[in-house]
Amino acid sequence: MQLFFQFLGLLFTIVCQDPNDAVFSQSINVVLNGQLKHYFVGNVVVHASSRQEKNEYFPDDSTTFDDDGTPEFIEYLEPYDYDQFIDLNDLRVSRIYPDVNKNQVLPYDIQKGNMSNYMVKKYLGDGTFAFVQSAIRLSDGLPVVLKQIKKEYTWWAKMEAKVLNTLNQENNPNIVQMVDAFFNESSPVLVFKELQNCTTFDYRIYNYYHDLTSSDIKQLYYKLFQALATSHSKGIMHLDIKPANIIINDDQIQLIDWGVSDFYFPMKEYRTRVGTRHYRAPEQLIHYKYYNYAVDVWALGSIFATAVFKKYPFFNGRNNDDQLLKVVKVLGSEDFFKFCYKYNVRVPNDLYQKLRSYEKIPLEKFINDENKELATPQAIDLLNKIFVYDHAFRITAKDILQHEYFKDL
Ligand SMILES: *[C@@H]1O[C@H](CO)[C@@H](O)[C@H](O)[C@H]1NC(C)=O
Ligand SMILES: *[C@@H]1O[C@H](CO)[C@@H](O)[C@H](O)[C@H]1NC(C)=O
Ligand SMILES: *[C@@H]1O[C@H](CO)[C@@H](O)[C@H](O)[C@H]1NC(C)=O
Repeated sequence: MQLFFQFLGLLFTIVCQDPNDAVFSQSINVVLNGQLKHYFVGNVVVHASSRQEKNEYFPDDSTTFDDDGTPEFIEYLEPYDYDQFIDLNDLRVSRIYPDVNKNQVLPYDIQKGNMSNYMVKKYLGDGTFAFVQSAIRLSDGLPVVLKQIKKEYTWWAKMEAKVLNTLNQENNPNIVQMVDAFFNESSPVLVFKELQNCTTFDYRIYNYYHDLTSSDIKQLYYKLFQALATSHSKGIMHLDIKPANIIINDDQIQLIDWGVSDFYFPMKEYRTRVGTRHYRAPEQLIHYKYYNYAVDVWALGSIFATAVFKKYPFFNGRNNDDQLLKVVKVLGSEDFFKFCYKYNVRVPNDLYQKLRSYEKIPLEKFINDENKELATPQAIDLLNKIFVYDHAFRITAKDILQHEYFKDL
């Protein structure tokens, strides 16, 4: 579903200065008014002057962006016993919605079927797991998006269908709606209601990065945090919140791609190398496996920070440890080591040396002439409550909706 991308060519060059240090210098080619322009991320300014133009960008290879340059990271997870006794006061258990899911969640039962009810309009793109097409449902003319998942990933498709089936009972307009699921030959196809004329919420290319007013930001993020609040209340973590998984048109915004989402169980271990580096929460960066819903709040908060400060990405790490360094440089070393100590996470000595000497920087330091209208005291107060190492004290999506910042919506 990240295939709604509409910009032209993302190029990546890896310049290795040090054998242990992969430096990504990322550039984007964009066609504006028929002219090819070249921009570098970090100080990317891609400014299209009209709504028409920004729809003319599309990616060459969108997956490369998440590439860490680090070797495959294999994590061993303990098998989970669904019948075990759980002490809900255990430090490792989420303080919100710890036991929404009572029993092991079974995958959605996708039925045999065929494409006869759909007329494919357009191929939208493909990725590792799936290819995506836009189509019309012939029985009622509904515009849809068909995500056909490779048959090796059938179990994943069934879990994504299960997640969406659970979420869609809530009728939250800010969560993508699955309207059907069936097999085309032996490959599962998930059918979504199409958000017409949408684009992804990707600041690298989107005018939004420059043009969003304070009130736009407030409205859009309220809806996004609302989507998270709904999901969390149903015992579901999205786990891949990133701009490419947010789609938007003139009057709607939606959280899409629930393909790696998971149901929360107390004391269950989860993979920490999930999602996209720039939006990974500190607990994931230190490979703490008993994380919970709070990782989504951090991820969406990091995107919110890019809008508020016009700084993309807000925490711009080159790999997992560097990402952690970028966070520690802002939130400070002292609280970081308290956090590690509390959760009994050992930081390897070389990493300890890298992370140990940073003072906390007030977020106000990021205010400049470009963003001073957006970075209001309320916005900064909200970010201070999101950017908290200890996930047990991080503000929840539900409480964010009650925050002062959103009062005048
Ligand atoms: C396709 O599915 C419909 C209903 O699910 C069924 O009536 C039809 O016979 C099927 N067509 C083929 C070619 O299998
Ligand atoms: C059905 O699946 C086959 C095999 O993956 C694929 O080639 C074909 O395009 C699919 N049909 C439609 C209408 O998408
Ligand atoms: C989408 O855009 C097309 C072309 O600009 C327009 O004709 C159509 O009405 C739009 N659809 C919606 C639902 O906004």
